[in-house]
Amino acid sequence: MRVLPPVTPTPEQLKVLADVKPGFRIIRGAAGSGKTTTALLRLKEQIRVRLDRRERLGHHAPVRVLVLTFNRTLEGYITELARNATPQDDALDLEIKTFSRWARSLVGDVDIVGGDETAAMLRPHIDSFATNRQHEFFVDEVQYVLGRFEYDPVDFDPDDLSGYLTVEREGRGKAPRVARPTREKLIYEAIPAYMDSKRRRGKIDWSDLTMLAAAAASRDAYDVVIVDEAQDFSANQIRAIQQHLHDPHNTTFVLDAVQRIYPQYFRWREVGINARPEIIHTLKTNYRNTAEIAAFAYPLVEGLPLEDDGALPDFEACRRSGAKPLVVAGKYSDQLRVVIDRLEETADFDNESVALLQPRGGGWFNEARRVLAQRAIPYCELTRQNEWPVGPNVALCTIHSAKGLEFDHVLLPGLSQQVTPHGTDEGDADLERLRRMLAMAVGRARKSVMVGYKPGEESSLIGLLVPSTYELVRV
Ligand SMILES: Nc1ncnc2c1ncn2[C@@H]1O[C@H](COP(=O)(O)OP(=O)(O)OP(=O)(O)O)[C@@H](O)[C@H]1O
Ligand SMILES: [Mg+2]
Repeated sequence: MRVLPPVTPTPEQLKVLADVKPGFRIIRGAAGSGKTTTALLRLKEQIRVRLDRRERLGHHAPVRVLVLTFNRTLEGYITELARNATPQDDALDLEIKTFSRWARSLVGDVDIVGGDETAAMLRPHIDSFATNRQHEFFVDEVQYVLGRFEYDPVDFDPDDLSGYLTVEREGRGKAPRVARPTREKLIYEAIPAYMDSKRRRGKIDWSDLTMLAAAAASRDAYDVVIVDEAQDFSANQIRAIQQHLHDPHNTTFVLDAVQRIYPQYFRWREVGINARPEIIHTLKTNYRNTAEIAAFAYPLVEGLPLEDDGALPDFEACRRSGAKPLVVAGKYSDQLRVVIDRLEETADFDNESVALLQPRGGGWFNEARRVLAQRAIPYCELTRQNEWPVGPNVALCTIHSAKGLEFDHVLLPGLSQQVTPHGTDEGDADLERLRRMLAMAVGRARKSVMVGYKPGEESSLIGLLVPSTYELVRV
C-alpha cells in the first residue's frame, strides 16, 4: 500500500519549518493542505537541531520525541512516513503511538471498558430522561463531558464537572438541546452511577485512562512532540500531554476542526495555551484533491459552524483538475460492479492506491470482499491495523480509520440512511458529525471519488450533494 512520496517544501511550508523557537505551535488548514507532511518535515528539522546541540554540549540524555496519532491506522501510516524522515541514531528516542497506547505505557496494566460495555452500563441511568433514539447521543455526551472537564477517576467528585452546567456546548450541534436539568441529571446521577459500575467491575474507561496518564509520574519528559489530527483529541488529552513536556519543548498540534468526527471539543485557552497569531500557521494550498473533488465535498460541510481551527474544502486552492466524481444509483451489487468497472478502465492498480470506505465496519464489507475476490483483485484491510501493509494497493477501511490517510481513488458505495442515522431537528448533532465524516472521506482522494446509493434507501447526505459537481449513473 502506497504512502506519501518525499516532497520539496513550498514557501508556505518553509515558513513553518523556519519557526524554530520553543513552545507550542498550531498547524491548521483544510484536508490535503499538507499539514501532516509539514509537521513531519518540522519533526526531522527539530530532531536534527536537538541532536546537534546534544553533541555540541556533550549531553548524555537522549533526545526524546513523541508523535501522537488518534487511531491505529494513522499510527501505521505515520510510522511508515517517519521511518524515511528520521535518522537512525542511538541518541534519538522516538515514539510514534496512538494516544491510548501512549497513555497505557504511562499508566501500566489496566482493564478498559469498550464502547458497547460503556453504552450498556450507562443505559439504565440515561433512560429516565432520554428517548431510545437519543441513547447513543447521550453516551457520546458523557464522553464529551469527561473529555472536557478535569476530574479524579480514583476519588470521583461530580462537582468537578460542574463547569458543564453552564458551558456553551460547542462542537455538539444545536439539537437535541441539553437543558440544565438534564445536565444536572447527567453529572449528578448518570455519571456517578456509571463510575460506580466501572469500579465494581475493576475497570476504567478511556477518559479515566487520560486522567491517570496526566497524573502518572513522568519518565524523562519529551523534547519534541507532534500531535496529528488534534481536533479529535479531548481537552483532557491535551492537558495530559502537557504534563510530560520538557522545558524547553517544541510541541506542534496539527488539526482541522471541520474534520472533527468524535464528540470532543476544546478551546486553546481551556488547556492553558494562548493561541496568539504568532504561534499559528495556516496552510492554504490543497495539494491532494483535484478541484472537482474539493467542489464535490464542499456542500457537505458548507454552513456548519465554522470554528477557529476549521477550513472548508476550497476548489480554488487545488493545483490539479480531473474528472467529476461519479455517483451511482442502483442496487448495492450494481454499485460495486459499476465502480469497479470504472476503476479497471481508469486506474493503474500496480501503482495507484484505492480505498473502499464504509461508515461501519465488519459485516458491511462482506459483499465487497466477495466481489473483489471474484474479480481476482487483491486487497488488504486497514481498519485498526498499526502496521502499514506492504501488499495490495486496494484497501477496505472504515471511514473513521481513514482519517488522515490518502488514496488515489476513493470508493464509497452503500451510502444508505441505515448506516448514517440521525435526528431531524435543525442543527442535529449526529447529522453534523456525519456531514463532516463524509466530507473527510471524500477528501482522502487524489484522483477520483465514486459514491453509490440505492434509490429509496439513500442517506440524506446524498441530498446535500450538488448535481452539477458529479456525473450520475443509474443502473
Ligand atoms: N510541498 C509539497 N509539494 C507537493 N506535494 C505536497 C507538498 N506538501 C504536501 N504535499 C502532498 O499533499 C498531500 C496531502 O498532504 P498531507 O497528508 O500532509 O495533508 P493534510 O493537511 O495532513 O491532510 P488531512 O487533513 O487529510 O490529514 C500529500 O499527497 C502530500 O504528498
Ligand atoms: Mg494529515
